[in-house]
Order: sequence, then structure tokens, then C-alpha cells
Amino acid sequence: MITKEMVNKLNQQLNLEFFSANLYLQMSAWCNHKGLKGANLFFKKQSMAEMNHMYRMFDYLNDMSMMPVVGSIEAPSVCFLSLTELITHAYEHEQTITYKINNLVHSAITLQDYSTFHFLQWYIAEQREEEQIFKSIIDKLTIVNVDTNGLFLIDQDLKNMSNVNIIDH
Ligand code: FEO
Repeated sequence: MITKEMVNKLNQQLNLEFFSANLYLQMSAWCNHKGLKGANLFFKKQSMAEMNHMYRMFDYLNDMSMMPVVGSIEAPSVCFLSLTELITHAYEHEQTITYKINNLVHSAITLQDYSTFHFLQWYIAEQREEEQIFKSIIDKLTIVNVDTNGLFLIDQDLKNMSNVNIIDH
């Protein structure tokens, strides 16, 4: 039995996943605008992955005979000073999402909702992976000289990373 409290919390997360999808879609547009075609592709794929995160939650609520509720989604940032600032923003966003998922897991345990607890395990692993991905990009940006060819190399690298099928994630 899933409680109303848990349903509300899952719906909040569902909308946060929507926001993540919009944030990364907007980031892909910024990258494209700056001529960073690889980064554009990478963030477009990330946006699709976030939609999948949202759909998983949507389907779980339906499966539990509860109503998923799509609310109004806050508009994401449009302007960034550099690719480094953008990636750092994305990394910090993922850290926030991890915190939110952890809170959901805590609520599921506290409410003795072990079905939801089990459902959320996938998100725990996913957050670990996503944080690692963004941290690895930040590390690479620190190593290269972004004022010269470094930015080109990073963009190529992001293009290669976007070829990995992350839609199922
Ligand atoms: Fe749905 Fe990137 O967390």
C-alpha cells in the first residue's frame, strides 16, 4: 500500500525529472549556438534520458493505481559563461537530484513502503553513474587548455560519449 504522502513525493520527483530534461535540452541549444556540436548531441541525449526517468516514475504511479500529476515546470537557465560553467551547473544539478532521491528512499523506508523502496534502487545506481559522468567531464576540462584546441577535443569527446545508448538509462 502506497501512502498519499509517498505519492506526493514521487510526483514532485516526476516533475523534477521533467525539469532536468528541459534543463539539458536548453543546454544542448546553448552548446549548438556556440558551435559545440558534440556537446549539443551529448546534452540532447541526456535530455532524452531524463524523460525516461520521468516516464519510469509516471508508469510506477500508474501501476500502483495512483495518479501521476504533471505540474508547471520552472524554466531552466538559458545563458552560461562557458562550457565549464555549464558542465559544473549540470554536475551540481545531479548532486541535488541525488540528494532528492536519497530523501525519497529515506521516506520509503520510514513509511515501510518496500515496493517504492525497491523501485527507487534503479535511481540510486543511475545517480551514481550520472554524477560520475559529469565529474569526469569537469576533470577533463581541468586538464586541457580550453583557450586553444582543448575545447575542440572536449567537444569531440562529448560527441563520442553521446554515441553510447543512454536512452534506456
Ligand atoms: Fe534524472 Fe539526471 O537525474
